[in-house]
Amino acid sequence: MTTVPRLYNQFIPTHYDLSLTLQRAERVFTGTVTITGAAMSDTIRLHAKDLTITSALIDGSEARTSPTDEFDELLLEHDGLKPGNHVIVLGFEGTITDGMHGLYPSLFEHNGIKKELLATQFESHHAREVFPCIDEPEAKATFDVTLTTETGITVLGNMPIDWQREEDGALVTAFETTPRMSTYLLAWVTGELHRRTAQTSSGVEVNVWATPAQSAESLDFALDIATRSIEFYDEYFGTAYPLPKSDHVALPDFSSGAMENWGLITYREIALLSDPTTSSISTRQYIATVIAHELAHQWFGNLVTMKWWNNLWLNESFATLMEYLAVDALHPEWNVWLDFASSETIAALRRDALHGVQPVQTEVNHPDEINSLFDGAIVYAKGARLLHMLRQYIGNEAFQSGLKDYFASHAYKNTEAHDLWDAFTQASGHNIGVMMDVWISQPGYPVVHINQTDGTVHLRQEQFYIGDHPSSDALWPIPLDATCSELPTILDERETTVARTHSSLLQLNKHDSAHFVTHYSENLRQPLLEAVASNELDTVSRLSLLNEATLLARGGYISSADLLPYLKSYAHESSEPVWGIMALTLAELRKFVEQDPEAERRLRLLSGNVAREQYEKLGWQQREHESEEETKLRAIIIGLTLYSEDPQAIDEAQRRYAEGIETLDPELRPGIISSVVRYGSDELALSLLERYSSVTNAELAQDICSGLTSTRSLAVIETILASLQDASIIRPQDVGRWFVYLIRNRYAREKTWEWLTTHWDWIEETFGGDKSFDYFPQYAAAGPMTQEQLDAYIEFFTPKRSIAALTRVIDLGIVEIKARVALLERDSPAVLRALRSEE
Ligand code: BES
Ligand code: ZN
Repeated sequence: MTTVPRLYNQFIPTHYDLSLTLQRAERVFTGTVTITGAAMSDTIRLHAKDLTITSALIDGSEARTSPTDEFDELLLEHDGLKPGNHVIVLGFEGTITDGMHGLYPSLFEHNGIKKELLATQFESHHAREVFPCIDEPEAKATFDVTLTTETGITVLGNMPIDWQREEDGALVTAFETTPRMSTYLLAWVTGELHRRTAQTSSGVEVNVWATPAQSAESLDFALDIATRSIEFYDEYFGTAYPLPKSDHVALPDFSSGAMENWGLITYREIALLSDPTTSSISTRQYIATVIAHELAHQWFGNLVTMKWWNNLWLNESFATLMEYLAVDALHPEWNVWLDFASSETIAALRRDALHGVQPVQTEVNHPDEINSLFDGAIVYAKGARLLHMLRQYIGNEAFQSGLKDYFASHAYKNTEAHDLWDAFTQASGHNIGVMMDVWISQPGYPVVHINQTDGTVHLRQEQFYIGDHPSSDALWPIPLDATCSELPTILDERETTVARTHSSLLQLNKHDSAHFVTHYSENLRQPLLEAVASNELDTVSRLSLLNEATLLARGGYISSADLLPYLKSYAHESSEPVWGIMALTLAELRKFVEQDPEAERRLRLLSGNVAREQYEKLGWQQREHESEEETKLRAIIIGLTLYSEDPQAIDEAQRRYAEGIETLDPELRPGIISSVVRYGSDELALSLLERYSSVTNAELAQDICSGLTSTRSLAVIETILASLQDASIIRPQDVGRWFVYLIRNRYAREKTWEWLTTHWDWIEETFGGDKSFDYFPQYAAAGPMTQEQLDAYIEFFTPKRSIAALTRVIDLGIVEIKARVALLERDSPAVLRALRSEE
């Protein structure tokens, strides 16, 4: 594997003076950059990609420039160039292209007129597409930026505007000098925008911006969360937000969810805007977590930055943990730690069980691999879980005091894992590096087998796998968090036996904070299930017990048929997050019945029966004083009832839909649209697709997408597939979502796979080079259920393993599908038998 050369080792930039002229209509830009810095040798290499260099001076005299083919490098040579300080001045030109990185247009329609913004996306290594620079996180420098644009628009940068004037019919905007920062965090947004403004208690100006196609009220929720999150972090991190302002901009076209550019955070519309009359609670919770995540990066990532991308988790794992800490402080009634225990935990445990998965801390050899590092389940979810585990282990006080020291000592600099561990070691008195290094550098996680016989408890750990794997002798230092004081605090050996005389309920990982699953022996599991049934177990425990059962079934430690008795114990459950796992458990069983109509009928009945008590209690109509949790739970319950094909529920969905999409309870909207699409005419579905193409409310658009993709009509499926490449109907930013929903729909699976294989060139052309490129092999692995489909996946994707950005996801995709095919073969007879005996 080729290793990417680090240019920072031979040229250390300290300041950039950058002027850019954006010629939007012509889709080009021109620029001049003056870079001050120190050369370590007699040549200088900068990063530059798809730029034409028009002039080059080093210390005032002309330099030769030549692009190298590999690694986006630009070689600068100058006779007699010596190591030491130099000033480089480069003139350059580049193009504004549609791929959502570098400098790109973001399109919208307002009052029937097509308009566009220009925006940048530089993480992880796209600054080099806009100006020559040392495009590495360690190469921190200060930046003076001047932009020349058309007049009559808003021009935003990382810093406040220093001066702005019109010159020769153009608008020239100069920003204040930035603090020392990495190139991937620079950003600009230009165009027609409106805003709402507030101030934090310490005087930081907070603005939320959107295009004029969006209402002013839809900015308010985000503004409140952003302002209060900054105040929370000011206090929690003990270092004040470092810039005078914090802008948050909703962009109509945006590749990821949001991006933490320093002082100018950019978002997808759905991740920032919420119409107070039509947005759901779930959407507002999502928005709050995205804002809290990106704001956490203003410290974690922006103020203190990883030295190199192998420590990306220092950014992302932390920001993910902080999402929950901050939102919990702002909205304690949301109980977001339960969402952490479900969504982050499931994502992490499912993916981290596959052989070949990356560790949290992963080496990067090639620039194209950088994008593939952002495996959400690992670098976000698992990493956050590990930090949560650490926080639980040392306590919040030591955790917070360690963080305060970390920011105080490393502000405006770069760090590696050990810098953080050192801060926690100081604060807690435990040797944190020893424990945490194992967790972040080893892929996977353990299952702890536990059983109790005649006064002794036996514990044994081994690596937990779903699917094929070589043998592993990996061990982890596992904080057991047991309900019984005889058990060790940390299990770091293969196995151990301890004496235990009493027989009270025995539980491991009581707070679901450590990253492992527990396999209880029958005599320990039974009392736990009884405690669930009699409502004596706390919510997190109920949630994780069931979630871990689904994993143990996937891993072959229990049979999937055992999930049915589990569900029975949860018959009187009332917690919404636990219901989320119950619905997921039922969904785990759906794949077994695809080929067996009678078994499917029984699973549908079972789902309806499981949901009935709550269905009767909650009904369809929101009550005046119900809690947000109840409102959300209603959506899960109605979803299960609709899955059961209850004729009255199907009619009720139809009746409500007929009153107009805008009248629907936002929480129920996706389920109702799915139901009417599933049982309605092709005309209805096609009219929804038409509506989708013109809708400006991103949440409604998303609900239509999830509804339409549950169609069973081949004609509708074909029309949707044909629209995936038509940006006037489905924006490229949304293609991945449509694709994964379709491939998960068994009626659309074959056709969607066919679409992928016949339009691969288009996918590569449109998404290659972007972080979203690897979603396609990853999402495609969510569909296949049979050996034949597995073979097709292997045949199609194996040759594409040579694309560095895809190698790992393809390998994991194969492991994942193989595991699913084996699971179906292994457990089908028992599941079908169990369903047949269901009344
Ligand atoms: N820094 C990332 C976004 C990013 C990563 C952009 C890699 C380009 C390349 C940002 O902080 C992030 O994590 N965004 C998430 C949303 C977040 C709330 C989990 C995303 O985009 O999915
Ligand atoms: Zn992030």
